[in-house]
Amino acid sequence: MTGSPKKETRPPDAPRAILAGATGLVGRYLLRELLTRTRGDGDPAYREVVVLTRRPLPDALPAGLDGDRVQEVEADFTRLGELGEAVVADHVFCALGTTIRKAGSRERFRAVDHGLPMALARATRAAGARHFGLVSSMGARSDAGTFYLRVKGELEEELRGVGFPSVGIVRPSVIGGPRGEFRPAEAVGRVLLSLVPGRLRTVHAADIAAAMVTLALEEAPGVQVLESEEIRRLAKG
Ligand SMILES: NC(=O)c1ccc[n+]([C@@H]2O[C@H](COP(=O)([O-])OP(=O)(O)OC[C@H]3O[C@@H](n4cnc5c(N)ncnc54)[C@H](OP(=O)(O)O)[C@@H]3O)[C@@H](O)[C@H]2O)c1
Repeated sequence: MTGSPKKETRPPDAPRAILAGATGLVGRYLLRELLTRTRGDGDPAYREVVVLTRRPLPDALPAGLDGDRVQEVEADFTRLGELGEAVVADHVFCALGTTIRKAGSRERFRAVDHGLPMALARATRAAGARHFGLVSSMGARSDAGTFYLRVKGELEEELRGVGFPSVGIVRPSVIGGPRGEFRPAEAVGRVLLSLVPGRLRTVHAADIAAAMVTLALEEAPGVQVLESEEIRRLAKG
C-alpha cells in the first residue's frame, strides 16, 4: 500500500487489528482511527492493521496515514478459514453491511449483514482474537418488527455465543459522514433526526470509529453495548 509520508515505529507489544468493511463509511474512519490512535508513550496503538476487502482500497491513503502498517488482503468472506495468518489478530472490527435494495432480496441482505460478520467472528476467534467490535444498529432486537433490525438483533445474539472474551457492540442511529452514493431514505432521516433527542440523532462515523477503538483497547471482559449518546460520549474521551 502506498501513500505514507512518514515512517512510524511498530511497537511489537501493540495489538494487531483486522478490519472488515474498510471501503465503507464507518470502515474508512475506522482505518484512519486505527492508524492514528497512539498510546501513552506516543507510539502507535496498533502495530499492524489487516484490511480484509473484496476489492482494493483506493491507491493512496489520506495524507498523514502510515500505510506501512496496513496489510491489504483481498478475501472471499465465505472462505476466511483458508486465509491462514491473515485472520490472526488481537482485535477485530466489523463494519460490513449492505441494504436490502442493493442486495436485491432479503435473503441476500441477510447473507451479507448476518452471514459475513458471523463468518468473520468464527474465523478470527478460532485464530485467537480476543476482542470483536461490531457496528450494529439502534433498535437491533431478534424479535424486532422490522426485518433489518431483526437481522441485526440475531447477529448480536449469535456473536455473544462465539466465545470472545471481549465484545464491543455499537448501535448508532443514522450514521453521518461523507458518502459516495445518495441514499434518499437516510438523507430524509438525517434531516428529521437533527430535530430529535440525542439518543435518536445522527452519529458521525468518526465518533463511531473512535468509540469502537477505545472499547477494543480497553478489552473489558464481557459484552459492552453502546447506544448513540454513549458512542458520542466515549468518542469525545
Ligand atoms: N447507514 C446508516 O445510517 C446505518 C445506521 C445504523 C447502522 N448501520 C450499519 O452500520 C454498518 C456500517 O454502515 P456503513 O454505512 O459504514 O456501510 P457502507 O458504507 O455501506 O459500507 C459497507 C461495507 O461492507 C462491505 N460489503 C458489503 N457487501 C459485501 C460483500 N458481499 N462482501 C464483502 N464486503 C461487503 C462494503 O464493501 P464494498 O465497498 O466492496 O461494497 C463496505 O466496505 C452496516 O452494518 C449498517 O447496516 C448503518
